[in-house]
Amino acid sequence: MRIGILGSGLMGGKLGTIWARAGHEVVFSYARSEQKLKKLAREAQGNAKAGTPGDAARQADALLLAVHWSRVDDVLKQAGDLSGKPIVNCSLPMNADDTDLAIAHTSSGSEALARKVPKARVVSAFNTVPSEVLFGVFAARRRARKPSLVYCGDDARSKKIAAELIRDVGFDPVDAGPLRIARYTEPFTVLIAQLAYEGDEGPELAYRFERFGRKGAN
Ligand SMILES: NC(=O)c1ccc[n+]([C@@H]2O[C@H](COP(=O)([O-])OP(=O)(O)OC[C@H]3O[C@@H](n4cnc5c(N)ncnc54)[C@H](OP(=O)(O)O)[C@@H]3O)[C@@H](O)[C@H]2O)c1
Repeated sequence: MRIGILGSGLMGGKLGTIWARAGHEVVFSYARSEQKLKKLAREAQGNAKAGTPGDAARQADALLLAVHWSRVDDVLKQAGDLSGKPIVNCSLPMNADDTDLAIAHTSSGSEALARKVPKARVVSAFNTVPSEVLFGVFAARRRARKPSLVYCGDDARSKKIAAELIRDVGFDPVDAGPLRIARYTEPFTVLIAQLAYEGDEGPELAYRFERFGRKGAN
């Protein structure tokens, strides 16, 4: 797949690198320095290059949106026409000082994003894990026991693409349903952040859902 990265920071830089190493074609865009984008592309050791958000969006099979909530409008404007494009959104609707969700309960960042770009196909994914765990999960991707990763969205084709990208990183994709479920997954991330950054075991944290009992049993 050709994947455009909109926001090449902690999340976008690492996920883009992983997808390039997994064999995808990646365009890194949107950082404050072009040198940084070029370095990321070089160090990805795969089919990766640096470009503008417009370059990243053009001919992309999927886009990753990974910017601070306050930068969403700017990066979308620079990306141009996103009609029909699957946008995998890991951005959280945090307030300016990152202390709280600015949208929650009756809506979510991903739903607000879908309203901004109604012709695109938004899938909420990757926002429930800290960036620090991504390379570790990728390194362990051949293990049978994989961490879970919830995702949700309203468009079946884009969800299929997101699930493939989730699997490529080394997670077990868990389809949580329509995009409005992001109202629950986004606050769940605040819990994960609490455990990752306020606990004393470090931020390399992922989660795994387990089911007990078989369907139809008892
Ligand atoms: N980090 C995590 O563990 C994590 C986990 C879950 C969800 N999220 C969410 O994912 C999103 C991205 O988080 P992140 O930690 O990856 O953020 P980040 O490291 O700050 O990355 C944001 C990217 O946007 C770029 N940027 C910011 N202002 C810009 C401007 N004026 N012009 C051009 N580029 C600009 C940054 O450029 P520079 O590279 O030059 O700084 C950076 O590449 C956020 O919404 C966050 O809430 C993050």
